[in-house]
Amino acid sequence: MTSIAPPRMPEPEPVPHGAAPPTSAPVLRMRGVTRVHGGGATQVVALRGLDLVVYPGELVAVMGPSGSGKSTLLTLAGGLDTATSGDVFVDGTALGRLSAKALAALRRRSLGYVFQDLNLVPALTAAENVALPRELDGMATRKAHKEAVAALAEVGVAELADRFPDQMSGGQQQRVAIARALVGPRRLVLADEPTGALDSATSGEVMRVLRARCDAGAAGLLVTHEARHAGWADRVVFLRDGIAVDSTGEPSTPESLFDGTSTRPHGSRSSDGPPFDPGRTDPGRTDPGRTNGDSGDSAGAPGGAER
Ligand SMILES: Nc1ncnc2c1ncn2[C@@H]1O[C@H](COP(=O)(O)OP(=O)(O)O)[C@@H](O)[C@H]1O
Ligand SMILES: [Mg+2]
Repeated sequence: MTSIAPPRMPEPEPVPHGAAPPTSAPVLRMRGVTRVHGGGATQVVALRGLDLVVYPGELVAVMGPSGSGKSTLLTLAGGLDTATSGDVFVDGTALGRLSAKALAALRRRSLGYVFQDLNLVPALTAAENVALPRELDGMATRKAHKEAVAALAEVGVAELADRFPDQMSGGQQQRVAIARALVGPRRLVLADEPTGALDSATSGEVMRVLRARCDAGAAGLLVTHEARHAGWADRVVFLRDGIAVDSTGEPSTPESLFDGTSTRPHGSRSSDGPPFDPGRTDPGRTDPGRTNGDSGDSAGAPGGAER
């Protein structure tokens, strides 16, 4: 019997920037991705030929005006919508080539989503909500519950494990939603304005959790309107009318890796210092993992706010 080629494609091009160590393959690669809604006079091009690569350890902020295609980018990256043309690869797998079943499995196992509308299941407790994707994936209930409680602890709400969504504040619900997005070995975390409903202290904690997860090896995409949140990212992609108009924080040449102008190697941050302390406010302090040249984030890094 001839073997069927898996939907895993060799990476077809050299990586577009030199920040990643050669051993690290991108978690997300979007190549020439276009998404057109509707047709004729009402046709809307939500994304036009977007190229984007995100490596393990990287948190990339996506900014741009309303309607510029940010949410479209995230839903395509997460396999919740299909590109009109172009390719989306997650861990080298072309999403467009997967069966619906394989895509659903990849979403459950490898992808985490945090959206503005929380989508917690009202009839389930916090722990049950967080355990749900793991149980759907076949994990035994007890083990899934244990993981869920650990994920809740990671976002600082372990004590809410047995509460139902309507017994929590909006901020608490959002943290539970984030725990659910992070539970298990998620490779790619997609967050669409995850702090929209939160006060600034809670937002800072949410950012810290996202950052820590990326430092631990995940790749993250964060849509945000707030420069102080984008300041947690390694780089920022700006969208306008479905086109990436600018990107900050990435070195333009491999040489810049050696002359001190590059960003840090991806994923190195966690080993460089203590975990962030969101309660520490030290204006002007760059975060401890940022070592060389990327502290002056041109996205308007917050200069210590919320850090
Ligand atoms: N399902 C859809 N049907 C028609 N147009 C859509 C749909 N989803 C998004 N759009 C349009 O695509 C463009 C980009 O939308 P979106 O990605 O939600 O932008 P953003 O998140 O930056 O506000 C907008 O013009 C929006 O109206
Ligand atoms: Mg949006």
